[in-house]
Amino acid sequence: MKMIIREAKKDDILSCVNLTLEAFDIKKNIVSCDLNKKLNDKDNLILITEHKNTNIAFAVLEKRGPNKVPFIDLLVVKKKFRNKKIGTVLLNSIKNKLKGLKVKNVLVEVESINPELINFYLKNEFKITGYIKDYFDPNNDAIILSYVIKQRKSQISTI
Ligand SMILES: CC(C)(COP(=O)(O)OP(=O)(O)OC[C@H]1O[C@@H](n2cnc3c(N)ncnc32)[C@H](O)[C@@H]1OP(=O)(O)O)[C@@H](O)C(=O)NCCC(=O)NCCS
Repeated sequence: MKMIIREAKKDDILSCVNLTLEAFDIKKNIVSCDLNKKLNDKDNLILITEHKNTNIAFAVLEKRGPNKVPFIDLLVVKKKFRNKKIGTVLLNSIKNKLKGLKVKNVLVEVESINPELINFYLKNEFKITGYIKDYFDPNNDAIILSYVIKQRKSQISTI
């Protein structure tokens, strides 16, 4: 399947909003406001997967906190394209973008009530490194998963 992965432009935001609404029960104006803000924020990167001139997936990578730790803030694949490795390919593209930067890990927080999603990240070489009890709701913890960035060989210094 032929796909292009590229950085988002202003024109892409509406399709990202619609992809988000298809996946989550959330208000349109909140998503729209959030994504427009992230598009113009140097600590956020929005990547788009395009197939036949249609945006079929997107991801938001956000550098959080004083140490600018990279987090996968959002990763959404259009429903009819799920389970075709499109999410995995987009995740690999994020991992590649982080190679060579001075970061050791990329993190994601997932709801504990969503074992399928936890499984998706485990299959993609993330490891569970922590949790925050009752973070989302009582009995719905945040599970923190982390992927260790594999640096390019040329960038590993020899002693
Ligand atoms: C999670 C998501 C991005 C995965 O993308 P995808 O392209 O469907 O995933 P892939 O095809 O690369 O990998 C699928 C694997 O992940 C697993 N998986 C994890 N979460 C899943 C989900 N919600 N739906 C379907 N499969 C899921 C499947 O078991 C599958 O394993 P397999 O290949 O051994 O059969 C996609 O299902 C999605 O958009 N979900 C809704 C939005 C969401 O919850 N995003 C995460 C917020 S950070």
